[in-house]
Amino acid sequence: MNSLSNKRIIIGITGGIAAYKSAEILRRLQDQGAIVKVVMTPGAEEFIRPLTLQALSGSPVHTGLLDEKAEAGMGHIELARWADLLLIAPASADFIATMVHGKADSLLGAIYLATSALVSVAPAMNQAMWCHPATLDNINTLVKRDVDIIGPGNGIQACGDTGPGRMEQPELLIEQLANRFTSGKLQGKKIVITAGPTREALDPVRYISNHSSGKMGYALAAAAIEAGAYVTLITGPVNIAPPARCAVISISSAEDMLDAAMLEAKDAHIFIATAAVADYKAVSVEAEKIKSTQKTLTLTLEKNPDILSSVSSAYQQLFVVGFAAESRDVQAYAQDKLQRKNLDVIIANDISRQDIGFNSDENEVSWIDKDSSTLLRKRNKTQLARDLIEKIATAYRSEQLSDA
Ligand code: C5P
Repeated sequence: MNSLSNKRIIIGITGGIAAYKSAEILRRLQDQGAIVKVVMTPGAEEFIRPLTLQALSGSPVHTGLLDEKAEAGMGHIELARWADLLLIAPASADFIATMVHGKADSLLGAIYLATSALVSVAPAMNQAMWCHPATLDNINTLVKRDVDIIGPGNGIQACGDTGPGRMEQPELLIEQLANRFTSGKLQGKKIVITAGPTREALDPVRYISNHSSGKMGYALAAAAIEAGAYVTLITGPVNIAPPARCAVISISSAEDMLDAAMLEAKDAHIFIATAAVADYKAVSVEAEKIKSTQKTLTLTLEKNPDILSSVSSAYQQLFVVGFAAESRDVQAYAQDKLQRKNLDVIIANDISRQDIGFNSDENEVSWIDKDSSTLLRKRNKTQLARDLIEKIATAYRSEQLSDA
């Protein structure tokens, strides 16, 4: 699988003759398995018809900020949250200035301000405009904000001039975009992730479980692989496919998850526990199906082992990350778990909110370590997973340096 596969990409097209090349970029991204949506500025529509891009992308092209119909479907905030990457190609000198000043007077400008996705910009303009100190200053400002600048290329321009300012060739542009998803920050590290629910049998047909979808753990596994790690995913039963290039151990009960975790964590560098482990299991599992003739039924349950605590106390060198799903006093309970379970980091979310968490595609979490607490605002779980893996990799590295 290549690193653009299944990535959600918005191509933002601004006004310039190179806009016709955006159609080819769109096709190439789709060939790589990316899911692409198109946003055009009014200037872009002077150079290429939205209909062309709509036909190629297979979904409506987004053009206006104040279009009631469009906002009722997927508005600028939804688009901003949906994307893993915002590519502005071609980016005119004017739009680059718009980004620098944070102007939200166009749909594309508003998406740039609202998104937490990666942002890449492929400038295209006359060589004198590119070389003007105003443009070069603007580019430097964007670079400082972690915007990736692609190109521009050098050569004969549509206006007859020769020099820098041509939009980068689509194949080179796609190559640079793909690199954005392979940071290499966890190159060669082994990461073990627990995910999904556990099932605690009561009899041959019934069990106790919970609603965990596994989405967060699976998204973290994909992001860790992108960052160069070897990932072992220890997973309870879920309805989603694991990422490619990932070792998968499927388990059912908490006891099985514990055995697998203890074994796999032995030579791991980082352990991340996203699993929603059932707190209790039946003291004894009935060999025969429990009859439903009785009016009431009493089950005797006992506490399941705490997988996270067992792993963190057995392997002191391991960098250990836990999750805390809380319905109140989120910070206080999470801080308590950080210490009690001997963790490096705990990632806490508020499950009393309907719009995030369990079974949702979006989440908002607090990153809590010994020294700080940081809120990662609501974003899709894929993007959140990348941001978390980035933070985990940085924290892991600085711990290694301080131990050395
Ligand atoms: O105590 P609580 O269940 O809220 O702790 C949540 C964290 O502990 C999660 O990271 C979860 O995966 C982990 N956990 C575990 N084994 C348990 C219970 C929780 O690994 N039995």
